[in-house]
Amino acid sequence: MTAAPLTSAEIEAVRAQFPILRREVNGHPLIYLDSAATAQKPDVVIDAESEFLRTSNAAVNRGAHSLAGEATEAYEDARATVARFLGVDDHEVVFTSHATEALNLVAYAIGTASLQRGAGAHPDAARFALREGDEIVVTELEHHANLIPWQELAARTGATLRYIPVLDDGALDLDAAASIIGERTRVLALTHVSNVTGSVSPLETLVPLARGVGALVVLDACQSAPHLALRPRELDVDIAVFSGHKLYGPAGIGVLYGRAEVLNALPPFLYGGSMITTVTMERAEYLPAPHRFEPGSPRLSQAVGLAAAIRFIEGVGIDRIAATEHVLAARLLEGLAAVPGVRVLGADNPAPRVALASIVVDDVHAHDAGQVLDDSGIAARVGHHCAQPLHRRFGVSASLRLSVGIHTTEQELDIAVEAVASIRPFFGVTQGVSP
Ligand SMILES: Cc1ncc(COP(=O)(O)O)c(C=O)c1O
Repeated sequence: MTAAPLTSAEIEAVRAQFPILRREVNGHPLIYLDSAATAQKPDVVIDAESEFLRTSNAAVNRGAHSLAGEATEAYEDARATVARFLGVDDHEVVFTSHATEALNLVAYAIGTASLQRGAGAHPDAARFALREGDEIVVTELEHHANLIPWQELAARTGATLRYIPVLDDGALDLDAAASIIGERTRVLALTHVSNVTGSVSPLETLVPLARGVGALVVLDACQSAPHLALRPRELDVDIAVFSGHKLYGPAGIGVLYGRAEVLNALPPFLYGGSMITTVTMERAEYLPAPHRFEPGSPRLSQAVGLAAAIRFIEGVGIDRIAATEHVLAARLLEGLAAVPGVRVLGADNPAPRVALASIVVDDVHAHDAGQVLDDSGIAARVGHHCAQPLHRRFGVSASLRLSVGIHTTEQELDIAVEAVASIRPFFGVTQGVSP
């Protein structure tokens, strides 16, 4: 059964939990349409972090005193909450600083596996080793965080980086994908949802192609985790990453999910305390995941805040959030389609999408367009959104992105669309409508 969208009363109740929505910007009530960049925080997240710092803060995993025990419990409870959210085991959840670090961790660990020889080598990691002739496949949709680490890995190992191109409508070229993913492919790294077009990637086609040739599948779930049920096992991916701050949680914490046997075979990324079983003056032996990837003092209040964010999402229901945002996506796209001189990047792609749209306003620079919205209290993102290749593919250098959160209303989107319609008249641009 499909979930019902939230009622207006339920959305109002959700909104009441976001203190920032009570403020004004430039004399207007804030309309926050930049959740894809970073989400706002509900009271429960702010309170959970502050309560932890007030009452339970201590160094985890190390001290024998009661407070250290409480802090360790809170940290491990947070891990269990993330695991439940993803439908995976606790020890498959690694906390990182953000998604960017999680992606770098995986790419760097594969690089280490590729370069290690001799006594210091990690024997289990040999299966990840890349060499000349091997291929890493990404897509033209990627955020730089899921592109540059793979470029660097290719450069370090001699492997070749290939990409699945984007068609004119913004969809991934699946015919090309079928010929690009082949016997040489060792890694497929791709986004679940594009942070520029909002489209959901056709994982049901791409993942089996990669699995069929034994490639490691790495999913960038930054833009899906807040909007739809993220189930890495059902998606059959090896790795999935997301950032806490986009999921209504604190900044400074990210999640790396990895299949246990993959994580336990990968060499560590950073080295230091809290990740070892034995250390001599010559060498060290490492704990299994997650601790082998969490050296140093971890992000405690951030983990506790992220767990509170997940409980908040679970309280509303991710399926109901998805249903609500489905309605918002249609409203946003229909509204923008009716504005003369405005092009929505990837609008013709028939794939399912989250409620996010990047637009180009004819004859007006994205930064100027964003200024007009800001004057009305509307927070939207301008620029290339860390996806320069995709913008280049669409023939533009920048766009204006509107992205919803759990608190967004249809009325807010209507106001935003009206503001978008006012941009060209504001700058006195009257002719030259998009082809
Ligand atoms: C699709 C995608 N991947 C990765 C990232 C990187 O996230 P973070 O900056 O939190 O590491 C972002 C953030 O904008 C994103 O949208």
